[in-house]
Amino acid sequence: RPIQPPDLSHCLLISIYSPSSPPLNCCALSLVSPDPQILNFTFPLPSSPLRIRPAAHLVDSRYISQYSRAVQLMKDLPKSDPRSFFQQANIHCAYCNGAYDQLGFSNLRLLIHRSWLFFPWHRLYLYFHERILAKLIGDDSFALPFWNWDSPDGMRIPSMYLNNIPINTSSSSSSSSSLYHPNRDPSHQPPVMVDLNFPEDGNNVGSDQAVVYPSVDDNLRIMYRQMMENGATTELFLGSAFRAGEQPEPGPGSVEVIPHNTVHSWTGDPRKQNREDMGAFYSAARDPIFFAHHANIDRLWLVWKSLGRKHKDFSDSDWLDSAFLFYDEEARLVRVKVRDCLDIDRLRYRYQQVENPWINSSG
Ligand code: C2O
Repeated sequence: RPIQPPDLSHCLLISIYSPSSPPLNCCALSLVSPDPQILNFTFPLPSSPLRIRPAAHLVDSRYISQYSRAVQLMKDLPKSDPRSFFQQANIHCAYCNGAYDQLGFSNLRLLIHRSWLFFPWHRLYLYFHERILAKLIGDDSFALPFWNWDSPDGMRIPSMYLNNIPINTSSSSSSSSSLYHPNRDPSHQPPVMVDLNFPEDGNNVGSDQAVVYPSVDDNLRIMYRQMMENGATTELFLGSAFRAGEQPEPGPGSVEVIPHNTVHSWTGDPRKQNREDMGAFYSAARDPIFFAHHANIDRLWLVWKSLGRKHKDFSDSDWLDSAFLFYDEEARLVRVKVRDCLDIDRLRYRYQQVENPWINSSG
């Protein structure tokens, strides 16, 4: 009983945990028509360019202007276009805040966090997002950056996401980079270092009332613990089984909780009720840094698989056949299964090789 794509004719408004905000419509999958045509996923041609995702802190200015131009073009698409930046963020909201029921179970939400769907769903989400960006700038080899927060040189907000980089003169309207986003914690700007163990409630004040800052070694030890000790088996790393007809969110894998959730909260804005935008599911993907954060999560899944005999994907067909819907670069709905995302060579992307310095940070 694998999870099936939702019935798109039935979408619920989302209530966000704040008394003053009205219910939110993030029915991004239901934009085209209530009964749209759905294609089955096909792999890109083996001859298509291999897209190499670079570490965000290592890219050159040419890359930054290319990526910021792509995001600007995406933001400039009409909100009714499912490829627009606005609707891309709503796709995350739809699958993460429960806009849709599980097919055939009107009392059960379809949610992709806190279960074995977390890694594959986000991999596919980035895959389609990246292809839309590539199409917008007409560059088939374009690849998203990854935020290498598990490496000392990457442990702060990468400069391309700040508002002091040179303005891209070819972009239509804005006066700051399309990668800059105002709803972030002002006290977590560079050179302040990311806290991979940041408390989810944002309260990182010690008993003496002083803010507790981590050291590089603290962060590296957390990486080792979450990847190797707490992620020792498939279920511990990828998360608990979630099958059709079951309660969603049965239990998250090690890395989903820390550092995935913690970096979300650390980045979000404490002046907002739920540390929006990065700190809340419904709004997280409104911040372009979301995609670099998740590219690193996706990379760590590959790293984990390379690090131990027991580090294997599930072979359970309920996992392999779980299916989702996404929009492709032509704004067509595509039905894609978990099994389709397990070999990234077939998806034609890779990550720039970097050191994983936490490998030696046991104990
Ligand atoms: Cu779907 Cu990082 O959250």
